[in-house]
Amino acid sequence: MAEYVYFLNKDALIIKPAKKSPLFLRMMALLFAMVCGVLICSIRLKHMSTGTKFKYQNILVIGRAYTDNDIKQSEIPGDNGTKQLEVPQLHYPQPQTFSRAECKHNPVRLFSIISMQRSGSGWFETLLNSHINVSSNGEIFSKLDRRRNISSIINTLDKVYNLDWLTSASKNECSAAVGFKWMLNQGLMEHHREIVEYFNHKGVSAIFLFRRNLLRRMVSVLANSYDRYAKLLNGTHKSHVHSSQEAETLSSYKPTINSTSLMIDLKEVEVTATQALEYFNSTHHIVLYYEDLIKNPTKVKDVLEFLRLPQMELTSRQVKIHKGSLSEHIQNWDEVNRTLHGTVYENFLNADY
Ligand SMILES: *[C@@H]1O[C@H](CO)[C@@H](O)[C@H](O)[C@H]1NC(C)=O
Ligand SMILES: *[C@@H]1O[C@H](CO)[C@@H](O)[C@H](O)[C@H]1NC(C)=O
Ligand SMILES: *[C@@H]1O[C@H](CO)[C@@H](O)[C@H](O)[C@H]1NC(C)=O
Ligand SMILES: *[C@@H]1O[C@H](CO)[C@@H](O)[C@H](O)[C@H]1NC(C)=O
Ligand SMILES: *[C@@H]1O[C@H](CO)[C@@H](O)[C@H](O)[C@H]1NC(C)=O
Ligand SMILES: *[C@@H]1O[C@H](CO)[C@@H](O)[C@H](O)[C@H]1NC(C)=O
Ligand SMILES: *[C@@H]1O[C@H](CO)[C@@H](O)[C@H](O)[C@H]1NC(C)=O
Repeated sequence: MAEYVYFLNKDALIIKPAKKSPLFLRMMALLFAMVCGVLICSIRLKHMSTGTKFKYQNILVIGRAYTDNDIKQSEIPGDNGTKQLEVPQLHYPQPQTFSRAECKHNPVRLFSIISMQRSGSGWFETLLNSHINVSSNGEIFSKLDRRRNISSIINTLDKVYNLDWLTSASKNECSAAVGFKWMLNQGLMEHHREIVEYFNHKGVSAIFLFRRNLLRRMVSVLANSYDRYAKLLNGTHKSHVHSSQEAETLSSYKPTINSTSLMIDLKEVEVTATQALEYFNSTHHIVLYYEDLIKNPTKVKDVLEFLRLPQMELTSRQVKIHKGSLSEHIQNWDEVNRTLHGTVYENFLNADY
């Protein structure tokens, strides 16, 4: 006696009839109940996994979403549904260029600020560097030679994380956290697989810093790239300024935005950021948004906590360049306003930051 159960799709279930007996009927009822159970379960699971996608946007410290079924062993459960990665291993670097002297028994955290140009990372980095124990060495991969291939990237990383990369930011012997700023388009996306492996192996923490308002970011990118040639400040090009007078001079240039490609350009940036978060989702990381840090300066405390650094007041002398309404800063404002009106990016037009 052979019975066949066919799954055609989620809704259809065909059972070939055979000789009927009370036992057979009971068996069929049982089978039917089991199949229904499995179906209901799989539908629920599907809902749950789309649910976690949504949570991603606003979670600050993320190991991974907790319904993920390939959670790494090193993860420990948080109190509130998110899984956080264990504190990365401790490092006691022995630099070749100097002695860590009285601080050689203090552990050093390794980090990388992962960002995109004109997203507030310059300001954020000066803020971090105002901490007596933080050495963040700037955009070291802006030099092509250091990122030409994965071996030159790894050599550079090794040097930085061994405290042998000396810049004006280096705190030398008493650094308790060392890192640098890494832009997505500086080899990070291209070599993501090897870099994630390196981060996880070495215990490097990633600090993602993105900007929510991609239209403001675009204005800043265009203005900065114009100033590269125009050199508005007495013939020198500046990407960051320390006085409101300088900010005013730089923001006097109003870029024209290509409204034909605007939607696609914004989308592209958004997709790239999402992609980066996906690539690095197995690392110990935190996701920050520039706007949140500006509005709520206590958020910086989360970063110090994330890096297990002693809390202290952080300051930056940098002044924001494009202040006030965006309509003041875009040449073809009406066109841009029309293009984004009624789209998912409409809120970029009015947001303060
Ligand atoms: C989740 O837990 C972390 C650490 O335990 C805490 O910092 C964070 O505020 C909590 N989030 C919520 C939404 O309760
Ligand atoms: C990687 O690039 C460096 C220069 O940046 C070069 O000296 C080296 O030969 C390259 N290595 C490989 C494996 O291509
Ligand atoms: C931070 O730096 C100060 C001064 O250099 C030093 O005394 C202190 O031990 C350092 N703290 C840590 C956690 O390394
Ligand atoms: C340009 O230089 C002059 C004299 O050195 C100074 O007074 C002025 O403030 C500078 N302007 C800007 C925009 O930096
Ligand atoms: C604006 O973008 C469109 C589409 O990408 C392109 O064809 C056009 O040349 C661009 N216009 C300017 C002025 O760059
Ligand atoms: C992590 O990224 C990988 C692809 O790199 C993806 O398959 C996986 O679903 C991501 N996990 C989460 C929780 O986003
Ligand atoms: C943008 O366009 C909308 C609709 O056309 C208009 O109501 C609004 O006043 C415009 N905003 C600005 C700041 O010009």
